[in-house]
Amino acid sequence: MIVEPAPAKLNLALHVRARRDDGYHELETLFVFVRDGDTVRLTAGTRDGFAIIGPFAGGLGGEGDNLVTRARDAFRAEFGIGDPLSIVLDKHLPVASGIGGGSADAAATLRAMARLADVALDDARLMKIAAALGSDVPACLAGRTMIGRGRGERLSPIDVPPLPVLLVNPGVGVSTAAVFAGWDRIDRGALPDGDALAIAMNGRNDLEPPARALAPAIDAVLALLVQATGVRLARMSGSGATCFALFDRAEDCAAAATAIRAARPEWWCLETALA
Ligand code: C5P
Repeated sequence: MIVEPAPAKLNLALHVRARRDDGYHELETLFVFVRDGDTVRLTAGTRDGFAIIGPFAGGLGGEGDNLVTRARDAFRAEFGIGDPLSIVLDKHLPVASGIGGGSADAAATLRAMARLADVALDDARLMKIAAALGSDVPACLAGRTMIGRGRGERLSPIDVPPLPVLLVNPGVGVSTAAVFAGWDRIDRGALPDGDALAIAMNGRNDLEPPARALAPAIDAVLALLVQATGVRLARMSGSGATCFALFDRAEDCAAAATAIRAARPEWWCLETALA
């Protein structure tokens, strides 16, 4: 059995630069990953199987629409390998929430199948499959801090310190396409220069205003996060609605998590660290 972690991704900054003719947007983003997320378990078997377990299993539909099975099928088509596989997705990340859950699951499936088939993880064919599955899948396949350009698939590595981070989601799913469609088409400029923290601190998430318009609960999340003791930066990730708060000290992150869980027990709250 292969157990492959599918960590949550965050966009510490996300600058939307232009709308393209193909309906996608040119962006510049700082992708980071955290220590926690979903898990994909793969077992070679006698017939194909796919099951979803875990706290957010109910948030996903049937097999046909799952990025895990699409990744499996794309891998098979590209590499011509068809051995039956039993796949179990342990779903801990909220669905449609801006932290790349589905993309991380697809990327973990590709990594696990590559390991099973002795395909190198830096094989260009894997990246090609990833880009076809979704804009965030190449970054999730790399699984490390990256600057992303283009749709998010043109990647260059950068380092980030392992800061404590708190993720909070108010329990509303938002459509990525709808949030991008709400962008006001004003280019507010490139990512700032500097190291990853400088980019995060001096950057923005241009999808925050349209996401807040669609899901006002994001306002309440950010209002609580910005007033936490010791918070360095609070911002929405991706197209939302999950927001993050970076801290210097794990104690401050833990205290903020405790306070938010008490005030808003219905929200999802994950205390973790940048990986
Ligand atoms: O690539 P992915 O399928 O994850 O994108 C979902 C939707 O988000 C796209 O259909 C598009 O509407 C929007 N999107 C975009 N520009 C990007 C990435 C995503 O407009 N760079």
